[in-house]
Amino acid sequence: MKTVETIKELRANIKQAKRKGKKIGFVPTMGFLHEGHLSLMRKARLETDVVVASIFVNPTQFGPNEDFEAYPRDMQRDALMTEECGVDYLFTPSVEEIYPENYVTYVDVEGDITRQLCGKNRPGHFRGVTTVVSKLLNIVTPDYAYFGKKDAQQVAVIDKMVRDLNIDVGIVPCPIIRDHDGLALSSRNTYLSSEQRKEAKILSQSLFEAEKLIYQRKLDSKKIKEFLIDRISSAKNAIIDYVEIVNGKNLNQVNEISGGVLIALAVKFGKTRLIDNIGVEL
Ligand code: PAF
Repeated sequence: MKTVETIKELRANIKQAKRKGKKIGFVPTMGFLHEGHLSLMRKARLETDVVVASIFVNPTQFGPNEDFEAYPRDMQRDALMTEECGVDYLFTPSVEEIYPENYVTYVDVEGDITRQLCGKNRPGHFRGVTTVVSKLLNIVTPDYAYFGKKDAQQVAVIDKMVRDLNIDVGIVPCPIIRDHDGLALSSRNTYLSSEQRKEAKILSQSLFEAEKLIYQRKLDSKKIKEFLIDRISSAKNAIIDYVEIVNGKNLNQVNEISGGVLIALAVKFGKTRLIDNIGVEL
């Protein structure tokens, strides 16, 4: 595996691979890797010829009071993990490489798709994500880019951006990877105290229970939301940011559950905000 810090060097290597007819797979990350990230890299390894992963803690997707500075980083450990997954190029640009002096251009996906769910309490977050992802896609020019479904709204927003801007890449959504007790893996799980960590399993448990209720034809989304809020509130440190049931495709709110829906939630344990979701297909 080659670690590359500059856009120029990465582009030269990718151009060479493309000249040989190689298919490029890309896994963008913010590092502090876990099995969720590694599952994306392994899938890219199976499906493409040359795998590029990036590690870049993107400042533009963090709000002023969010955890950009504190976000966990461990480049040495991450490099070993990516190498073990068969990644060919690990792109680790500096902030100045991605956002040089006088940088002023942003990509903004407008409308409800970015305004609701995580967009409500994280203004500017998706603008930062779509800006950096469009830049990374322009730099890497992959055939396929792999994203985890834990960030279901992020996948939907990126998919919309790629379609709206005619970016020539296949977006590959990949399954959520969970810990032994069901908690969705996230780099932010490391912030949790042992008590919060124990309580946090209520998120996946309540989502699986809600899924069961829907399969039992309990289709009133207000009642399912009330059930979820009740269950999650049984954890004494849980502060609910949102619990929503939305259309699985356009993320619009649904009243009566039918077809494919996404049950999505964000809950804080202390300062740590965790998200999780489940797609339910009727
Ligand atoms: O999901 C993430 O880790 C980030 O939002 C991404 C897609 C790497 C953009 O910074």
